[in-house]
Amino acid sequence: MATTLVKNGTVITASDRYDADVYIDKGVITLIGQGLSMPADTVVDASAKLVMPGGIDVHTHLDMPLGDTTSADDFESGTIAAAHGGTTTLIDFAVQDLGQGLYPALEGWMKRAEGKAVIDYGFHMIVCELNDQVAGEMDKMVRDEGVTSFKLFMAYPGRLMVDDATIFKALSRTRENGGLICMHAENGSVIETLVAEALDRGQTAPKYHALTRPPHTEGEATGRAIALAEMAGVPIYIVHLSCADALEKVKRARDMGLPAYAETCPQYLFLSSEEYERPGFDGAKYVMSPPLREKWHQDALWNGLARNDLQLVATDHCPFCMDEPPQKRAGKDDFSKIPGGAPGIETRLVLVWDGGVRTGRIDAHRFVEIVSANPARMFGLWPKKGTIAVGSDGDLVLFDPEGETTLSATSLHMRVDYNPYEGRVVRGTPAVVLSRGEVLVDHGRWLGRKGRGEYIKRQAGPPLVA
Ligand code: URP
Ligand code: ZN
Ligand code: ZN
Repeated sequence: MATTLVKNGTVITASDRYDADVYIDKGVITLIGQGLSMPADTVVDASAKLVMPGGIDVHTHLDMPLGDTTSADDFESGTIAAAHGGTTTLIDFAVQDLGQGLYPALEGWMKRAEGKAVIDYGFHMIVCELNDQVAGEMDKMVRDEGVTSFKLFMAYPGRLMVDDATIFKALSRTRENGGLICMHAENGSVIETLVAEALDRGQTAPKYHALTRPPHTEGEATGRAIALAEMAGVPIYIVHLSCADALEKVKRARDMGLPAYAETCPQYLFLSSEEYERPGFDGAKYVMSPPLREKWHQDALWNGLARNDLQLVATDHCPFCMDEPPQKRAGKDDFSKIPGGAPGIETRLVLVWDGGVRTGRIDAHRFVEIVSANPARMFGLWPKKGTIAVGSDGDLVLFDPEGETTLSATSLHMRVDYNPYEGRVVRGTPAVVLSRGEVLVDHGRWLGRKGRGEYIKRQAGPPLVA
């Protein structure tokens, strides 16, 4: 297998900054030093670049069925887009079907990814029914399959939502098996009532999606999820946290010393509920759950990231097209039928760098921590992924802090016909992206190979995150 030498860069990890060359042999970093001059199959010049560990996106939905449709990116297009954006590992969600065990779900998602993914990947498992057989399979997932985290929904009654008893049982099971529960925290019963009331009043436009999922419904569920985890005596991880109300619950728990953790996503840091006021049906582009919030929540979330009340940024990449094909249009007469989700797998690093590091909200080390190191530490990938060290995989982003990009659906690689940030100019670009020493992207040129991505069995155990 080939060797790669990355020369003349400035290495930045969550903790260190130094000028060095990085040598990768058989996909793994074997030497870091100054003035390395050994022969290598590939030599990459990193002059004027920051050499950072590849991004890790722990929340994606590729090729995910939803009702009559499927999320627009599959494991090929989605991982190619991820790589262009500097992400070299992702964790997607396999979904248990009602009446089925967890193994058919894992097998289904393995098939979706195999032969297609261009970067390394793992799976969380969405559990929507928990009987004794499924509880036993949770143990096997952790022990035998490297699926060490499970998502539960407190929303979407009749489909995905589980009750408090089920949540408590699942949490308790992770105390024994070393897994981690990831929670979609929205009060589904209250939302269901608000949605029915709105539709009764003839309120069918996309903006009512947000108005029927107010911040209290997320805050209440977040507090309840943390309380249930405290009763079970286990850590808990809140996914796609969007608002100050929920953040306050996480912060209070952490101040009390509880192992509560949470991610937020770029859409909640950069976009606001004003998007739902767009003319016509355009607000549907921003229909996701939780919805976008009033602008003032953004400062709270940035502060949460800076102070470690929030531990990382993932994307919840779940794209559906507006017109080609007309996926979002399924809800043109009823906002509750708009498939929820938005694209983001390609734009996470550039947005967080531009809005976080360039504005001085966080420094470059915290940037690496929230987009790469903490995702690895939280989900059993550390230190194989998430850092630059001898023995770690040669997953690198050669980042040009001065490079400028205009975000647009026409130039980005996600297979979706709009971009939520259309026209936004960001500074800081992933110029060269390597996965296990292979150059995947070189200044926008795609050099990767379909299917080269490998499934990663993740380690069990408590999160290695403060
Ligand atoms: O609306 C969203 N976020 N769709 C993706 C599924 C989920 O709840 O994460
Ligand atoms: Zn969710
Ligand atoms: Zn999601």
